[in-house]
Amino acid sequence: METYRWAVLGCGSIANELAQAMQSHGRAISGVANRTHANAVSFAKTYGIPKVYENTADLFADKEIDIIYLSTPHNTHSQYLNEALRHGKHVLCEKSITLNSEELAQAKALAEQNHLILAEAMTLYHMPLYKKLQTLVQSGSLGSLRVVQMNFGSYREYDMGSRFYNPALAGGALLDIGVYALSFIRWFLSETPDQVSSQVKYAPSGVDEQAGILLMNPAGELATATLSLHAKQPKRGTVSFDKGYIEIYDYPRAQQATITYTEDGRQETIACGDTADALWYEICDMEQAVSGMGNEMHLDYTADVMDVMTKIRKSWGFSYPEEHTTR
Ligand SMILES: NC(=O)c1ccc[n+]([C@@H]2O[C@H](COP(=O)([O-])OP(=O)(O)OC[C@H]3O[C@@H](n4cnc5c(N)ncnc54)[C@H](OP(=O)(O)O)[C@@H]3O)[C@@H](O)[C@H]2O)c1
Repeated sequence: METYRWAVLGCGSIANELAQAMQSHGRAISGVANRTHANAVSFAKTYGIPKVYENTADLFADKEIDIIYLSTPHNTHSQYLNEALRHGKHVLCEKSITLNSEELAQAKALAEQNHLILAEAMTLYHMPLYKKLQTLVQSGSLGSLRVVQMNFGSYREYDMGSRFYNPALAGGALLDIGVYALSFIRWFLSETPDQVSSQVKYAPSGVDEQAGILLMNPAGELATATLSLHAKQPKRGTVSFDKGYIEIYDYPRAQQATITYTEDGRQETIACGDTADALWYEICDMEQAVSGMGNEMHLDYTADVMDVMTKIRKSWGFSYPEEHTTR
């Protein structure tokens, strides 16, 4: 397979993780652009990146870049995605890929028109464990899926200017951590939910601090998600079937799951892949998709999750500043 040339836009904490994943597999990033140029310079120095762009326009115009990894705050994604796609770049964009379904549909249309891969960097879609569990579930050996239960809680200090709480940076539990829970749910459900209800408690800044979500699809598969930005919860997913249940801890990058068979209480541990390689699996799947050798980026699931999040926020009457302006 061809080796693709990557550039990163944004060089904060998750971009460092991606750069380290590349580095530990003997790969280099070709260029970096960032709002604060000095941070891009220092990022380039750390990872031996040859090009530091003066601005994003120079990055988009660079014919020697194939794939852009976008790791800026949520509210900036749509604008950068559209620019990158118009310039013929494939894009791997950090979660949440856009603010809402409308923005995602626009980016998807651009990607399709230009024959480009557009994907959300949702690690769990690329973990070998999830691929193995999905095959097992589809084999029917556990019976029919009945219920998925998800938790995700982070304790974030009440810093209303941080990207977690700041509405101007599209903060809030749903887009920051709910997207993981809903992606997990979507991975296992046989079809997307058509019934969506929820409860929300807002942070002092006005973004969603806590939420409880209840979903059901036409097959009657039920799912719940409990989110909090101000209370640690175990990142636990439970997927229950007629004949047993799967439990997964630290699910976004999990390498192990336990299956309990309810008839006799027998437990089986399934171990597959390595948490430390989470971003590397994502990079490999992205390059495979770009090469045209299969597409495991699951933009279809991303779109279903975005649709659910959009419906939830509409039902709350909660929107971000960007959603009030016409672009
Ligand atoms: N997949 C995962 O496991 C994971 C984990 C964490 C975060 N994320 C996602 O990754 C993205 C970034 O998160 P992070 O934790 O890396 O954030 P971070 O450490 O705060 O870094 C944010 C980056 O975006 C830039 N930036 C900030 N505001 C901007 C603006 N208005 N316009 C353009 N650039 C701006 C910053 O530039 P400066 O240098 O100028 O500040 C910095 O390079 C978010 O979408 C987040 O949800 C994903």
